This record gives sequence, structure tokens and C-alpha cells, in this order.
Amino acid sequence: MKRALTLIFALALTLGATAQVKVKVYETATDQPRIPAEIYGQFSEHLGRCIYEGIWVGKDSNIPNKDGYRTDVLKALKDLKIPVLRWPGGCFADEYHWMDGVGPQENRPKLVNNNWGSTIEDNSFGTHEFLNLCEMLGTEPYISGNVGSGTVEELAKWVEYMTAEEGTMAELRAKNGRKEPWKVKYLGVGNESWGCGGDMTADYYADVYKRYALYARNYADNKLFKIACGASEDDYEWTKTVMKKAGGRLNGLSLHYYTVPGWNCDKGSATEFTSEDYYNTLTRTAGVEEILKNHIAIMDAYDPDRKVALILDEWGTWFEVEPGFNEGHLYQQNTMRDAMVAAINLNIFHKFTGRLKMCNIAQVVNVLQSMILTDGPRMVLTPTYYVFKMFKVHQNATYVPVSCRAASITSTSGATMESFSVSVSRDKKDVLHVSMANPYLDRAQKVELKFEELKPHSVSGEIIQAPSINAYNDFGKEAQVKTAAFRDAKVSGTSITLTLPAASVVTLEVK
Ligand code: AHR
Repeated sequence: MKRALTLIFALALTLGATAQVKVKVYETATDQPRIPAEIYGQFSEHLGRCIYEGIWVGKDSNIPNKDGYRTDVLKALKDLKIPVLRWPGGCFADEYHWMDGVGPQENRPKLVNNNWGSTIEDNSFGTHEFLNLCEMLGTEPYISGNVGSGTVEELAKWVEYMTAEEGTMAELRAKNGRKEPWKVKYLGVGNESWGCGGDMTADYYADVYKRYALYARNYADNKLFKIACGASEDDYEWTKTVMKKAGGRLNGLSLHYYTVPGWNCDKGSATEFTSEDYYNTLTRTAGVEEILKNHIAIMDAYDPDRKVALILDEWGTWFEVEPGFNEGHLYQQNTMRDAMVAAINLNIFHKFTGRLKMCNIAQVVNVLQSMILTDGPRMVLTPTYYVFKMFKVHQNATYVPVSCRAASITSTSGATMESFSVSVSRDKKDVLHVSMANPYLDRAQKVELKFEELKPHSVSGEIIQAPSINAYNDFGKEAQVKTAAFRDAKVSGTSITLTLPAASVVTLEVK
């Protein structure tokens, strides 16, 4: 049956019409922003099996591990070159008391994870375990501080514990096994303070932010980059109020935008979905562009010199929990649809890096749009993982503007999106990378990339595509969705031509 469906899909691809797309690449443009590596940030939360089982199994586990961290996941994360990792939440952060997670493991109290399935956690993964993980991965830590149920003193002492060279907190840290302070750059002052993080108004939060931020000090040469809680989706009033009241005291302002297929918050299954659900998901995800533009316009009004960064510290798909799993653990599978969502978002993010400086997809292992899924000792890399891996060439590269003429797609929700997604960057070695996604399910696109002056002498590429849009990588089976070589691109003078198959993502390297 499955083979038959695959054949029908393949046939549809062959028979479907081919669209034409012309892309003009302005490779000679100067003064373009750098694409911060942090656009490729990740988010780890004490939620379901993200930390416990997904990353941390403890030293005594039968699952192969290095000092308690599972070795398969460690390796896969290292390969991804994660620039920044947010922790411990999410909603979890505003009920997390860091002191419970330091010191001898056997003395750590147990906590009820009230936000996520009331699961009992033993606090065996705490500050040391997180910051050591970041060091192993070569990743910048992003600590999300407890403002909702914590105190100013608790957050101030946490910063001191992590980063001070001397004093009581530094002595306690040394007693707990770590003499040298860690470097901690990013500090989130509350998460969703309008909801699970304290149910505050923007006006009230702006004052609370200033109080918490004031006492979160810089010790020695550690310089904190303080991120205030920002809006959800199109809550522009929140952005306005926080910028107006506290804009001079922030380094960053966050934003959350999740992709659900239905505009009425109808999530639907992660794997069993129709083409209608697919297009609704994609038009919803493309809606982030308008949201970013509008928040940036407000920030520009209050901060014309762009000193405050916009930080999209939660984004990604949010579907129904997989059947048979704890409703509170938000575990979902990840298909070729998620790969399309990831590529479209990353291409959009690149455009806004004059103001948008970090994005953190939710969550890195075993939760929403994860990179990695585990099942006991088994692990799979998701389609989203392969997109992040293929796109990592854009980290720290310079943005190259493009213009493009493509038709638009309207989904049954009434929302529209461009039928072709593209972005280009130039790395330090002067190599151009072009990432493209073809959202059509039923037609390939003939693409012409026309450069201003460049006459490329070589082009190579990689592609992610799948036997069906619902395909996913399952435990114990050969991966259905992964990267393969793409050999279709041809150079001709100052152009490159190629055919982008339906529902595929490609990155080209152009020299
Ligand atoms: O990612 C799951 C939850 O979504 C986060 O904990 C919270 O910040 C958001 O509402």
C-alpha cells in the first residue's frame, strides 16, 4: 500500500506542471548585515523527555553516555554546530529554583513539573550539567531566569554563582566541583510573563524587568546580554509598552511564534495530514514575515539605532501529541512538512538580521519541532535536523539580497505565501550559498539564478526530499528524509539554472 502511494506521489511529480522562477541575486551589494550564527539557536526545556532521556540519562544508565550525557545525541548535536542553547524553559523556567539543582545529586530535592504533565524530576540535571554541556558543544548558554515565582535575589545569586570569580557564591560553586566561573552571555528575564510566567500586564512587567535586570550584575569580564520577555505573535501593544518603558535597559526583546495548521488553533496530527493541512501549515508559517516586520517597525520607532535585538526565542511547528504519549509531554513526529517549515522560516529570518539576532527552535530533542527523537537507546535525526545541518553554511555569513518573481499560493485558511523561498549568503571564503524551497506538492520549479556580475565557475548542491510529504524517519528503519547530493544545477554565463523538485529543499554552493 505504502509503495503504491509512493508511486502515485512520484507520478504526480512527473505529470504536474512545471513553474518558472527567476531570481536576481545582488551579489555586489555592500553594507549588508551578517547572518548571526544565533539565528540557528536551539531551545532545551524540562518538558517531557527533552532533558531527561533525550540528553541526560545519568552515569549509571545502560544507554551509552559520557558523564551522564547520551553519546549518540551529543555527537549529533556537535555535528549541528549549535551556536546558542536556551534553558531551562519555557514555562518551566518560571517555576525553576536553581539552588535545587546544584550540589551532591543525592541531596537534590524532587520537583513536580507542574507545567508539563506533573512529572516528577530529580533535579539531577542542573546548572553544572547544563553549562558543562554547553562547553562540550561549544555553544553559548542562554539562561532563562525565573521571574514569575522567583525573587530578584534568587536570580541575582544565580548569575553570581555562574559567573563570579570570588565571593560566597563562587566558593559554593567551587565546593560543588567547578572552580572557574563559566561564561554566560544571554540572560532571559522572564518567559511569557503575560501568561505562564506571571500573568502580568506589559506595563507592570516593564517595571518588574527593570528591577530584576538591575541586580543581575556583570562579574569580572562576563558581560550579560539581557533579554526581556516579549510578545506572542501579533501582540504589538506588548512590544510598544516594553520598548517605551524599558527600551533603554534591554539588549534584546523576545517574541514567540508557533506554527499550527489551523488558524483556529486546530493542531492536527504531525504525520497524518492532507495536502490542505500542509498548505495551511505553510501559509501560517510564512505569516512570521509580517509579524517580524511589524514588531521591527515598532522597535525602530523607539530605538532607531537598532541597539535592541529582536530575539525569536520560541518558534516551530506545534501538532497534536503522538498517540499513546503523555499529553503534557508534547512529543511529536517530524515529517518532510517540518523540513519545509524549517527552510521557509530560516530563509525569512535571514532577511531581518539587521534587527533579528537570535532564534531558538522549540525544542531540541523529543518535544515539538525537534532535531532529534529518542526511544530508549535508539535515536533518529529528523527532517528538521537535516535542514539545520544543510543550512549551517549561512551561520556568520553575509546576507546577499535577492529579488524574485514567483506566483503566490493561497491556502483554504485564506492566507497566502510566495510559492518559492530563497536566500543567499556569502561566507568568509567568498563562497556563495543559495538555499531554496519549493512548497508546491504537485509541480517542480525551473529556476534561473541570475547574478549581477558573477560568472560562477562551479556549482554543487545538496537536496532534501521525500517519497511523500508525510514521510518521517522512524526508529529502526532506514531514514526516509535526509540529505542527498543535488547535481541538477548548471552554470551558464552569469546564471545558474536548475529544476527544483516538488516539496524539496536545496542548498547550492557557488564559487
Ligand atoms: O514550547 C512549549 C511552551 O510554549 C513553552 O514552555 C512556553 O514558553 C510556550 O508557551
